[in-house]
Amino acid sequence: MNLKSVLAGAGSYLPGNVLSNADLAARVDTSDEWIRARTGIKSRRIAGEGEFTSDLAVAAARKALDSAGKDPSDVDLVILATTTPDKTFPATAAIVQAKLGVPAGAAFDVQAVCSGFVYALTTADKFLRTGDHKCALVIGAETFSRIIDWEDRSTCVLFGDGAGAWVLEAQDAEKSGDRGVIATELQCDGRFTDYLHVDGGVSSTGTVGHVRMQGNKVFRQAIERISDAMIAVARKAGIAPSAIDWFVPHQANERIIHGVVERLNLPSDRVVSTIAEQGNTSAASIPLAFDAAVRDGRIKPGDLVMIEAMGGGLTWGAALLRA
Ligand code: ACO
Repeated sequence: MNLKSVLAGAGSYLPGNVLSNADLAARVDTSDEWIRARTGIKSRRIAGEGEFTSDLAVAAARKALDSAGKDPSDVDLVILATTTPDKTFPATAAIVQAKLGVPAGAAFDVQAVCSGFVYALTTADKFLRTGDHKCALVIGAETFSRIIDWEDRSTCVLFGDGAGAWVLEAQDAEKSGDRGVIATELQCDGRFTDYLHVDGGVSSTGTVGHVRMQGNKVFRQAIERISDAMIAVARKAGIAPSAIDWFVPHQANERIIHGVVERLNLPSDRVVSTIAEQGNTSAASIPLAFDAAVRDGRIKPGDLVMIEAMGGGLTWGAALLRA
């Protein structure tokens, strides 16, 4: 039987604390005008004390399971994309599996920083299409606020916390119609690790470290590489990039999103953007944006959706699915 990974449901969760640009301007030498003009961000959410990445992930996953009409016992694969795990080990996916009450199956984390959700989705798609697993929870969840240097104005204004989740089911391609994951593309160029990294780690410093970024160098790589990944995915699917119904990009910077839209000649009213109120939530940003557009009625079952991301590594990738 030819299997496909079909999206059965989606959900997301944002913590309650709102941190505005004005709040940040009271702490570091920045301004609401600079942040909005250079990034499009107005505010972001910050996890509360005692609220961990696994808590955000579980809240998003419960909503995704509800929307899919599934029970935790239906799930046999949990893949969690995060850069901010609860602990060095076990994988946060294992903690989430237990908190949700998923009784069996595989659970592991994927680490590709802001590209994590595209990497996790691509991994789940390959697992499901082998027939070894039937129902996957793919989650992007981050408490990025915990690795921010709150005195570094070049990074602290960019990031926020949150989580988003998709439930994917292996279905007989003959019966699923044209719905499901159509094509994916992943890339990494490890020569650029210094552009975006954390200055700590288990085997190097024994500390967690803080985010360090040469933002303008990442920016210069982003538009071209993201566009190339989208073109590769579109080519695999046999469509033009402009044929998509919805473009759900990683929410790193509004200017990067506009650059990709211009380069690929995408219709600008088909772009989903949540960056103004959420900032860059790393691996969580794509499923958060996707869920917002499903909930407000823009993305409907059967729509052709392109996702993309670039993050530390540098990693990048894209995926095309019919919702
Ligand atoms: N407020 C005011 N001024 C600032 C701030 C701030 N918050 N941050 C930097 N500046 C200043 C700089 O010091 C610099 O001043 P100078 O000219 O006197 O030296 C000036 O603004 C310009 O700095 P740039 O870094 O060149 O600004 P740029 O226009 O590139 O914008 C930004 C910075 C927003 C970070 C942008 O480069 C960007 O979005 N980069 C890509 C980020 C990204 O995509 N990351 C990947 C995903 S994240 C992940 O994987 C974890």
